[in-house]
Amino acid sequence: MKHLLGLEDLSKEEILQLLEKGNGFRQWLDCEYLSTRTALSDLKGRKICLLFYEPSTRTRHSFEIAGRLLGADVSSFTIAVSSVQKGESFKDTLLTLESMGFELFVIRHSSSGACLYASSHLKRAKVVNAGDGMHEHPTQTLLDLLTIFREKGKVEGMKIAIVGDILHSRVARSAIHAFSKLNWDIRLCAPPTLLPAKIEKFPVKLFYNLEDAIKGVDVIYMLRIQRERQKEQFFPSIEEYSRLFGLTHLHKSLAPHAMIMHPGPVNRGVEMEGAVVDCEDSFILEQVRNGVAIRMAVLHSLLGEEEWTC
Ligand code: CP
Repeated sequence: MKHLLGLEDLSKEEILQLLEKGNGFRQWLDCEYLSTRTALSDLKGRKICLLFYEPSTRTRHSFEIAGRLLGADVSSFTIAVSSVQKGESFKDTLLTLESMGFELFVIRHSSSGACLYASSHLKRAKVVNAGDGMHEHPTQTLLDLLTIFREKGKVEGMKIAIVGDILHSRVARSAIHAFSKLNWDIRLCAPPTLLPAKIEKFPVKLFYNLEDAIKGVDVIYMLRIQRERQKEQFFPSIEEYSRLFGLTHLHKSLAPHAMIMHPGPVNRGVEMEGAVVDCEDSFILEQVRNGVAIRMAVLHSLLGEEEWTC
């Protein structure tokens, strides 16, 4: 891989290779690292820049931890105290930082396509998409797949209901690309106003009723209402949305063996009842744990096998 811009670009084999590597790093984290507390040196001296133009807790910090566990030098670029505030463009910011020796940029941006744009302007450095607008969030889906694999023992041919604000969700787009390559039965459930135009062209089944959507699935994947991306009113009220599409403990009997997942951050009481967030079938914190391992796998795959030469 030269870059990781989205899962649409990866083959099934490439996705499975990243999962295998991520699972290996998860085992290393749970055993060897836990007892020795000694980082690896595979990326010793390599320079990684975290360039986040949007807020993040999970993605930003897990990339930072992942890079350091591999021995890399990781710098976090803070937009609020950078020359972006003096009008410096995205392109000039990238080229400036690349000139300082950064070899890989982990980028989160509000514009769909920002990572592709970055990859086409950087001379040598690699790009990892940490979420670009409404386009893709590839490492989120990879960590979700690792979480499913570690619980169910397989990642092919299962049944998932993705519920919520699919229209604005880059997580849903990456999930649809990956799960369809793995022959999943993909159900999307949302009010019609929160489904993208031409969604019927994707290999998915549409549901407008939560109970019908989740019946008998292996995974219930809840999404946050992305109010920061909504430029108009998509439903009458949060209360009505929550009543029709919010997951509660009463739904559990419809899919008794389902893993309950959410990319985070969760708005408790909106898309999910607080008790469901904390219940034993909820894998939300396990997803976060696997985030470090999968991001180690991605950084290692992009930087681990190639030396940077001037
Ligand atoms: N899931 C996810 O991307 O979370 P953050 O916004 O906290 O990184």
